[in-house]
Formats: sequence, structure tokens, C-alpha cells
Amino acid sequence: DFIKEVSGIRVLEKQLREKLNLDHVVVVPGDSDELPWVKQEMGRACVHYLKSILVSDSIIAITGGTTMAAVAEMMTPLTGSPNCLFVPARGGLGERVENQANTICAEMAKKAKGDYRLLYVPDPLSEKTYQSITSEPSIIEILNLIKGSDTVIHGIGNALTMAERRKASPEQVEKIKQGQAVGEAFGYYFNQQGEIVHKVRTVGLQLEDLSDSQHVIAVAGGESKAQAIASYFKPAKSNVLITDEGAAQKLLREI
Ligand code: F6P
Repeated sequence: DFIKEVSGIRVLEKQLREKLNLDHVVVVPGDSDELPWVKQEMGRACVHYLKSILVSDSIIAITGGTTMAAVAEMMTPLTGSPNCLFVPARGGLGERVENQANTICAEMAKKAKGDYRLLYVPDPLSEKTYQSITSEPSIIEILNLIKGSDTVIHGIGNALTMAERRKASPEQVEKIKQGQAVGEAFGYYFNQQGEIVHKVRTVGLQLEDLSDSQHVIAVAGGESKAQAIASYFKPAKSNVLITDEGAAQKLLREI
């Protein structure tokens, strides 16, 4: 039965890799919507994958959310790749402290026995603050580290769930609904076709900064996120997906 289970998972990984046109897909058994420990298993799988690609002196940019918190929870010392530096990918996106990239970044670095730098910017940013903040030398320094990161690890969420969790303004929620957004990542909201319908204004990594030379790893699972994952990958922006069986089955079956 175990062998059957493993080979079933391998088939899902291959099908998903082909469907989403990715370099690498890891599917962990179970559905994190129903079983909380499945999220930790995605975290573990992400750490395992990270170790297979990391070299010393890597800069790893990360986003926030509960899945990324699970990655931090499962992190172990990166002994094979010393001097790694963790940075948050973008400034504040409206998340509560425990879901913020800064918090998770510090935790992840501690467990990895690496270093970290944080990005302190007010949240949300007005156009004026944006301009003045991006001319602060200390901010410029960390922004350069972020843009020079060689690995990015990020979550993907449901558009409306994320807008609500971030206490988006009624106008923003309206825009997200009007645009029929289904997925969200990095503060960008996507519709089913993968088009950007709204974007949170903050500093740091912008979608167009992601490049082929980087390892960009998405970690997201749960049947309820299948549509969100598919929308994000429409114009492929990451090359690796770590997910669970719940999301994988639904994505292959219905989307
Ligand atoms: O707000 C940070 C973020 O990574 C979002 O971009 C993403 O949609 C969300 O968190 C995922 O959160 P969770 O893992 O809790 O579903």
C-alpha cells in the first residue's frame, strides 16, 4: 500500500509539472485544509528541497503567511551551505505580526543558523511615503539585497481570503471582486487568466523582478487553494511548486 501511495504521488507530481509547466513539483500526501500537519509536511518538503539547491552565501527572500510559518517551523541548520542570509521579499502587506514576512524571516534564519535582515516600512504606503522611503540609504541597502536574492520562497492564497485577512479597504475589496480575482501572491491579486487585477503598494520584490536565474519556490496546498495556485501559475512566475494531494487532485481534475 505504501508503494502504491508513493507511486500515486509521483504520478500527481509529474502531471502537475506538465500542466503548470514547472521544473519541479513536490506533492505531500493529505489535504492541509483538513489536516493541519499536512502544512508542516509541506514545510518539511520545502526545507528538503531548499537544501538540495542552496549554495553558501545565498540570499533567500521569503514572504509571509501560515504556510511560510510552517516552513520556518520545520527549518533545520543549513550546514551544507554556510553564510546564508534571509530577507523578507516585500514590505508590509497588511498581515498580523505572526504572519508577517519579517517575523517569519527572523525565525527561519535562527533555525537555519543563518543571518537575517529585516525591512521596516509602514503599511500601507502612500505615494509620498513610498518616494521618501525608497531614498533612505538603510532601506536602499536592504532593497538591493532583496533584489539580488538568488532564491525566493513564497506562499499563494485565495484572493478574497487574503483581502479580508489584511483588512483591505472596501474600495480595494470592490476592485478585487470586480476584477474577479481568485489568487494572490507577493501582494498581487490575479484573476483566472492570471492577469493582475490589483497590487498592494509596498517596496521590495516586484513580480517583474523575478528572473530565470533565481530559484522561485511556491509553497501552497489545500483543496481550497487549487484555483488560486492555477491563477498564479498561468504566466509561470515560479519554477518550483511544493503542494499537497488535496490541491493537486483538485487542480488536475477540475481546473
Ligand atoms: O501575505 C503573505 C502571503 O504569502 C500571501 O502572499 C499569500 O497569499 C498568503 O500569505 C498565504 O498565506 P497562508 O499560507 O496562510 O495561506
